[in-house]
Amino acid sequence: MTGDKQNDGGKEKIPARRLMNDGLAHGDPDGINSQSRISENRNREFFAGFVNEYQKQIDGLDGYINIRRHLDCALRGVRHLCDVGNGGVFDYDVAALPKITAVDLFFAGGRESNPNGGNMVFVRGSALELPFPDGSFDGALLSMLLHHLTGESVAANQACLDRALREAHRVLQVGGKCVVLESCLPNLVYRMEQTLYPLSKWLITRCLTHPPTFQYSLERLAGAMEALFGNCSVQLIPRGRWQIFLGAKLPSILLPTWPVLFESNK
Ligand SMILES: C[S@@+](CC[C@H](N)C(=O)[O-])C[C@H]1O[C@@H](n2cnc3c(N)ncnc32)[C@H](O)[C@@H]1O
Repeated sequence: MTGDKQNDGGKEKIPARRLMNDGLAHGDPDGINSQSRISENRNREFFAGFVNEYQKQIDGLDGYINIRRHLDCALRGVRHLCDVGNGGVFDYDVAALPKITAVDLFFAGGRESNPNGGNMVFVRGSALELPFPDGSFDGALLSMLLHHLTGESVAANQACLDRALREAHRVLQVGGKCVVLESCLPNLVYRMEQTLYPLSKWLITRCLTHPPTFQYSLERLAGAMEALFGNCSVQLIPRGRWQIFLGAKLPSILLPTWPVLFESNK
């Protein structure tokens, strides 16, 4: 983390690339292994304005109906779920769970109960630093979140991935379940994406209002969960005819991505 720090007569030299980048957040003073400020801001702004449209798409698209079926099955038996990166949308049966604590960057400050009452609480916070004590939940869900935790480099993205998984692991009770849903790339495309990340980040940031993203391969995510929890089961979900890619509804046939469900127990 401190590889770019240099000492010069006791004063710290700020690396040139730190002066040029967008600034970074969440406890990484070097700004190398963290979600970038631009990623945080774009996520906050884009998804705060996309909630209604997004929920409509989730409710209507065949791929998301398949996802809902799988999530409902994976979350069965959970009593208190921490839904990290919830985005104000639910692709599972909320009535089947006694209690849901939803976390996102753009929720109103502090702890906010569902205005309609019910079993949900919305909390503002980051996946990289969850505002809960250890062992608070028996279920953690990271649905379509991990590819949004992006930084200045591929190494920063991977550090965010590890950190978000560690946070999910931390807030789970022993015996609790971590469920990750991600849109994954084939290995070859994942390798190409790593090389092209500086370009794709630049293009997305310049041309779209969507935040920059970085998708993983099934093997990379299963490996990360296995390393942390000591177990991981994986299921491919039929992707349906349509997917949402960079905020747009696109035919699956044009995309290399595939939804995958990962489950680990603490
Ligand atoms: C593609 S949406 C996923 C929404 C929903 N979970 C789903 O399954 O469709 C990604 C969400 O992650 C949120 N997000 C991005 N970075 C985050 C962070 N560091 N902490 C918490 N949420 C974050 C975004 O604000 C956005 O709501």
